[in-house]
Amino acid sequence: VSKQTVATFQRAKAEGRKLAMLTAYDYSTAKLQDEAGVDGILIGDSLGNVILGYEDTLSVTMEDMIHHSRAVARGASHALIVCDMPFLSYEVSVEDAVRNAGRLLKEGRANAVKLEGGREVCPQVRAIVAAGIPVMGHLGLTPQSVNAFGGFKVQGKTEESARALLDNACALEEAGAFAIVLECVPAALAELVTSRVSIPTIGIGAGAACDGQILVYQDMLGMTSGFSPKFARRFAEVGDVMRKGFSDYIEAVGAGTFPADSETFHSGDDVIKKLY
Ligand code: KIV
Ligand code: NA
Repeated sequence: VSKQTVATFQRAKAEGRKLAMLTAYDYSTAKLQDEAGVDGILIGDSLGNVILGYEDTLSVTMEDMIHHSRAVARGASHALIVCDMPFLSYEVSVEDAVRNAGRLLKEGRANAVKLEGGREVCPQVRAIVAAGIPVMGHLGLTPQSVNAFGGFKVQGKTEESARALLDNACALEEAGAFAIVLECVPAALAELVTSRVSIPTIGIGAGAACDGQILVYQDMLGMTSGFSPKFARRFAEVGDVMRKGFSDYIEAVGAGTFPADSETFHSGDDVIKKLY
């Protein structure tokens, strides 16, 4: 497998090859995903939820993103590495946006950045792209706007909001975005957007017509408990496997059956015997 780039993402859409993306936040997970052949890895600001245990993504910092992006970058050699721009790292000014996007590549070793929003962030998208940094857009349920939405709910259900989303997708393409994530939008709207833009759409809760899909890996591996959105198919029950591994370990330590003799170093035992 060769290194995935924004050019191979573009080609995938042209050829009708579906793009598979996942989130990752650390070296060893990124390495496993890369070995499995994932097209792109997103260091999502969902790390606020799944790694740091926050209720939302708003508290995630540039330092958090850089720290995790560096780890992922060391683990992935084929996947395109996209790093989320955290809340307030791009909204305030174009200058801020370019500087912070640059840090995600320079210090975080990402290949591209992702930011949330449509027409209102196009000046930022244009300037970041002009600095040589590929930008992925993100429309629909954009979690950094949870307080404006009044909760996590499907977006683009009314004619007005669907028109606005389509318009924002076209604006992002025009501003130079190389792909757009569509999160929690009706399938018909995602299909319409996908047919109207020439850049790939990456869906999450946006139906099968998108050019690619993305999932938070803890969701798709069954590592999360509690509420699970209906699009988050569990491809494995890794949480159960981990819990059993942990409890088997605790039991073996308690019973004194771990470590076994075969798991113990014995070289030098003869020397120690002389000390008795
Ligand atoms: O932060 C994240 O994980 C994301 C994806 C779900 C698209 O933005
Ligand atoms: Na995100």
